[in-house]
Amino acid sequence: MREAGNVKPIYLDPSQPVDKRIEDLLSRMTLEEKIGQLCQYSGFTSEYEKMIMEGRIGSLLNVFGAEETNRIQKIAVEKTRLGIPLILGLDVLHGYKTIFPIPLGLASTWDPDIVRKTASIAAAEAAAEGIRWTFAPMVDIARDPRWGRIAEGAGEDPYLGSVMAKAYVEGFQGRELSDLSAMVACPKHYVAYGGAEGGRDYNTVDISERTLREVYLPPFKAAVEAGAGTIMSAFNDLNGIPASANPFTLKTILRDEWGFEGFVVSDWNAIGELINHGIAGDIFEAAEKALKAGVDMDMQGDVYRRTLIQLVKDGRMSEERINEAVRRILKIKFKLGLFERPYVDPERAKRIVKCKEHIEAALEAARKSIVLLKNDGSLLPLRRDIESIAVIGPLADDREAPLGPWSCLGDPRDVVTVLEGIKSRASAETRVLYAKGCDVDGESIEGFKEAVEVARRCKVAILVVGESRDMSGEAACRAFLGLPGVQEELVKTVYEARVPIVEVLMNGRPLSISWSAEHIPAIVEAWFPGIQAGYAIADVLFGNYNPGGKLPATFPHTVGQVPIYYNHKNTGRPPSPDRWTSKYLDIPYTPLFPFGHGLSYTRFEYSDLEISPREVEPKDVVKIKLKVKNIGDREGDEVVQLYVNDVVASVTRPVKELKGFKRITLKPGEEKTVEFVLTLEMLSFLNHEMRRVVEPGLFKVMVGSSSEDIRLTGTFTVKNLVEFPWK
Ligand code: BGC
Repeated sequence: MREAGNVKPIYLDPSQPVDKRIEDLLSRMTLEEKIGQLCQYSGFTSEYEKMIMEGRIGSLLNVFGAEETNRIQKIAVEKTRLGIPLILGLDVLHGYKTIFPIPLGLASTWDPDIVRKTASIAAAEAAAEGIRWTFAPMVDIARDPRWGRIAEGAGEDPYLGSVMAKAYVEGFQGRELSDLSAMVACPKHYVAYGGAEGGRDYNTVDISERTLREVYLPPFKAAVEAGAGTIMSAFNDLNGIPASANPFTLKTILRDEWGFEGFVVSDWNAIGELINHGIAGDIFEAAEKALKAGVDMDMQGDVYRRTLIQLVKDGRMSEERINEAVRRILKIKFKLGLFERPYVDPERAKRIVKCKEHIEAALEAARKSIVLLKNDGSLLPLRRDIESIAVIGPLADDREAPLGPWSCLGDPRDVVTVLEGIKSRASAETRVLYAKGCDVDGESIEGFKEAVEVARRCKVAILVVGESRDMSGEAACRAFLGLPGVQEELVKTVYEARVPIVEVLMNGRPLSISWSAEHIPAIVEAWFPGIQAGYAIADVLFGNYNPGGKLPATFPHTVGQVPIYYNHKNTGRPPSPDRWTSKYLDIPYTPLFPFGHGLSYTRFEYSDLEISPREVEPKDVVKIKLKVKNIGDREGDEVVQLYVNDVVASVTRPVKELKGFKRITLKPGEEKTVEFVLTLEMLSFLNHEMRRVVEPGLFKVMVGSSSEDIRLTGTFTVKNLVEFPWK
């Protein structure tokens, strides 16, 4: 016979169904304890320790280390009335301690498999140290490179963004959230944060519902469909209603249309900021609006803690809404297995973090992320035994920049610089000389002389220029998109030395580098490649690795062209040499480098496009098949890109939209068949009545090596109108 006092409560019994455990636990909680679950704070202080003991904190962010997370977790589990574990969160965007390329670089791989792999490694490392929740992926579409946070996402395209969003969620969350190496994902920033006016962070967003649904929402939807357990509500005002108090996006779309069952956390004090937005007079009104709209957890705002008891007492907030939020949060905690295994094994963490396999994946990801923008006269690859190389520029021997923004616990000491990479990959006989030339920012040109001298003494000069790591990411917007400081002057000055130059860029956004694009024969876009930067770049320079990355965002000639993106509308007067068309007088109407652009050391031939059926009935899918052959003399990767255009519709449609892509590897002379399947749903859009349809008529198919380099075209015709039950 069990004694009544020894009976394990249902919520602590893992053999019970989760929902039953939640209801049991909820029934034991006071209103204060429930509200505690809705509160998240940053760091760990003696005040927070006390609050945890009182059951007033459900989550912390920015606490680090296996021993430390165990120590904090122990307070929640062993020193509180109910022993509810904390969920510990962190911005693990592109690696925990093994740092991979920034997400914009990872998007340049056009390879969801490597993205999934990096995310799962990041999760394994962070989870091993007790962090089971990442504030990632950042899936905001960004059409404006002035916005510094473009670095954190997959660029300008909703389809590429959706594929990447899914890969990240699958990678972070693994097969089961309860897996020791899994973290729960948090796609952010919901929603349209990237549409900030003028590319200025935190700024107002005013867009049509059509643009919201067709451009900004798809990656979130993909992340939710992939099973993301949480979502972060954004800072921005969206069409007059801030995203963190927006029932239309948080309820109608997220819950009712998509059936999202996880919980929503606000961005950092986004609930408190509703006062600045001017839709709340005080914190009470802010809390009421946010929670009622659907924000379940308050990140660092301390607003829910200070207001919710009173709001319930005053009858302005139902306890049921609080219960609902608590249920959602507890559910994730149960699914993560935190009740059964609140602690981690520090010894296991030591074995996992930065292990050999993870470092190798960092090299693989970095190589795949590099985009060869230009290579006139096949200046690249360099011979390994070239006599001499000048390595010049403020980023050539920099250990910080390659980590990029949001580099979590990345350690500059782990970074291989470009100079180190080149020295290690060049032959023993090659002389490698180095000159910094100038700083990333600032006005001093003192170092130019040395740079020119070094260049003159060598057969080739590698100029490593770009941005420092704090020039992109949050609150890091730029009004000019050129190379900062005197770097362009450095490039021009070294150019005068009449040595062949390879420009290597490290940066967190598309840059306007028109002068270089015109004068410098070879340009390599490396983004911020992570800890293996130097090796990856050197491998590309020497041809140990044949670059195959493609741009996930358009490069403008100048900031005056922004926003410039490939999937624009045609207008009534599409740009042409004719004066009375949509363009500027003083710059070309085409981009500097288009979306999807990226060269290789080999060449690919496209042929034999087959589309079937050509007449498409509602039950059909459209199969698109073609052949790609490597007609050069070395192995290489090609990203085959499929674009579609709906020629006539009830509303204007983009000139082309990416609907499929495949990164393939081909040996010299090898040919592969690439196949895409288009469902009618993929062709659908919101018509003039805001209904999701495919309209009958002609569709153009364009397959190519970039959004501009279209190699094969064809058509098919949709026979009947097809309507979908969702927007
Ligand atoms: C950022 C989020 C981030 C959060 C927590 C905020 O300032 O906007 O992206 O997840 O801080 O660090």
